[in-house]
Amino acid sequence: NEGSLWGGRFASGPSPELQALSRSTHFDWQLTSYDLAGSRAHANALHRAGLLTDADHAELLRGLSALGERYAAGDLHPADSDEDVHGALERLLLEEVGPEVGGRLRAGRSRNDQVATLFRAYLRDHARTVAALVLDLVDVLEQQAAGHLDVIMPGRTHLQHAQPVLLSHHLLAHAWPLVRDVERLRDWDARVASDSPYGSGALAGQTLGLDPEAVAAELGFSGSSPNSIDGTASRDFAAEFAFVTAQVGVDLSRLAEEVILWTTREFDFATLHDSWSTGSSIMPQKKNPDIAELARGKSGRLIGNLSGLMATLKGLPLAYNRDLQEDKEPVFDSVQTLEVLLPAVTGMVATLTFNTARMADLAPQGFSLATDVAEWLVREGVPFRDAHELAGACVRRCEELGCDLPDLTDEQLAEISPSLTPDVRSVLTVEGSVSSRSGRGGTAPVSVREQLDELRTASAAH
Ligand code: ARG
Repeated sequence: NEGSLWGGRFASGPSPELQALSRSTHFDWQLTSYDLAGSRAHANALHRAGLLTDADHAELLRGLSALGERYAAGDLHPADSDEDVHGALERLLLEEVGPEVGGRLRAGRSRNDQVATLFRAYLRDHARTVAALVLDLVDVLEQQAAGHLDVIMPGRTHLQHAQPVLLSHHLLAHAWPLVRDVERLRDWDARVASDSPYGSGALAGQTLGLDPEAVAAELGFSGSSPNSIDGTASRDFAAEFAFVTAQVGVDLSRLAEEVILWTTREFDFATLHDSWSTGSSIMPQKKNPDIAELARGKSGRLIGNLSGLMATLKGLPLAYNRDLQEDKEPVFDSVQTLEVLLPAVTGMVATLTFNTARMADLAPQGFSLATDVAEWLVREGVPFRDAHELAGACVRRCEELGCDLPDLTDEQLAEISPSLTPDVRSVLTVEGSVSSRSGRGGTAPVSVREQLDELRTASAAH
């Protein structure tokens, strides 16, 4: 049973079938640099506690650095017999510094507190990467919005024409949820930062006088776990991270769905850049929005990773159970999915061109100015209930005549109600409609300009 972490009480080694099931190095090997950093901090804690001589301490640090260099050079690999990254690195360290010195490092720690710490540290780094990639997308949405402050488009509810809005207003409505996702990642990080489990041992803490706060500080955490059982057994940090990545996926998917609609012949609102779209192997004319479709598709996968992880966690008694080894693959997958997806979506949005004439043409159609008529009547002193009826009567008249609201003559308006004087025409243009919505958050150019500044301040704060 040589090379195993638990030879003593076993008469025979693990069966090949057990080894094959148990092995996690194919995915947890990417925790190598975090494991080595944890081991360094742990060696320092042992040394400070008087459990390592200066010479052994120095030799352990040398051995760990040597492994780090081999890893960086692509020259460090787990063996088939290694169960996980922690066992593999211990074996490799023993080979590097010999069993006498190497065998001292495991004192006072367990793979349970190790993995709970390393997984947090890994996710904290990737939370920063993902946040930066999300902010790149916010940035191109801002730029597209800033470049289209004068473009009016049909705003929709229920996918039906509702009221005219600025294209920039609509684009910024995709940016704000992404800014909130970045805020969620920051909030999450602050919570995880104060909870380094190193020092929790297998579940009950350690007897060796090691200082978990010092280990936490060395690993970039602001504090250590207040409860060793919770420190080793909880994975809500992983589930919360998976939720934020799933929410980013959902936000990307909603944007993607609009890109897909807007680039259809029927909508014809936008055109994809050749480098950010694909063709068909049989239909020569095709130009497909594959990036948007993959964004929409991968959001399902991100949601699946979250729900799979929560299903793994829901029935687990305290403290560590081996089920918890299933926590990493879904979350690693969510990280890797977003790190590939976000740059592609950002490029697609940055290079999207808008058919602004088509948008402007469609903006007043579908009687999208009817609300403006009603609100104009309210400003003239008509109760909204009556104003709504009168504006509705205007729409009905237009349908009978086969025309649009601005086409009604002064006489036709007056027939519907004497309150509908020719002055109502001031709101019967999309420009008039849009610029009248100048309250905070509204679609008037002046409001959208303010909003753009506010968004820039919010995203620059991260
Ligand atoms: N590889 C395991 C995991 O990822 C950690 C090992 C803990 N194993 C154990 N038998 N206590 O969760």
